[in-house]
Amino acid sequence: MIKSIIVAKAANNVIGNNNDLIWHMPHDMKHFRSTTMGHYIIMGRKTFEATKKPLPGRTSIVVTRNKAYKAEGCIIVNNIQEAFDLGKENQQEEVFILGGGEIYKMSMDMADKIYLTEIKETFEGDTYFPEIDYGKWKETKREQYKADDKNPHDYAFVELIRK
Ligand SMILES: NC(=O)c1ccc[n+]([C@@H]2O[C@H](COP(=O)([O-])OP(=O)(O)OC[C@H]3O[C@@H](n4cnc5c(N)ncnc54)[C@H](OP(=O)(O)O)[C@@H]3O)[C@@H](O)[C@H]2O)c1
Repeated sequence: MIKSIIVAKAANNVIGNNNDLIWHMPHDMKHFRSTTMGHYIIMGRKTFEATKKPLPGRTSIVVTRNKAYKAEGCIIVNNIQEAFDLGKENQQEEVFILGGGEIYKMSMDMADKIYLTEIKETFEGDTYFPEIDYGKWKETKREQYKADDKNPHDYAFVELIRK
């Protein structure tokens, strides 16, 4: 089972602020939706609370230390390994790690693949993606885009697999 991180990060690694996303990039939202559709998606409790409800068409797994935590339509786990085990038990070929900062940090050494959207600007924020050690990751795909009237920043869809 492939464990894939999916993230959109700014040039300075910022991914969020005040428990929310910073930029509005509809093409990235579309890319996120089509990449994750039908799959298990694993997210930290704070990211789940930012989205407020489970994402349609996907199996939402929320990671929390709170053993009493409940969220309608979601599977709750108390550590990320439990989420991976559920994916394996249910014959998933690929599961997606959706963030946020804490969950990315703990899964960087466990992930096999990263679907990375590079937003080609710096932003102020309070949550960061860990520095990618490119000695450990091989780029297998890169699609570059210029800003347009709907997507206000230059960006790239990149795929990295562990070397
Ligand atoms: N740009 C992107 O692609 C992207 C994607 C996702 C999120 N984000 C942004 O990231 C930010 C949220 O990230 P965050 O770092 O604040 O929070 P987070 O990673 O979404 O969630 C943190 C929570 O996960 C649980 N957790 C952490 N470590 C755990 C462990 N070892 N065992 C069990 N549970 C554990 C804890 O929940 P409890 O406190 O309930 O125990 C913790 O409070 C937001 O701004 C969001 O918009 C950006």
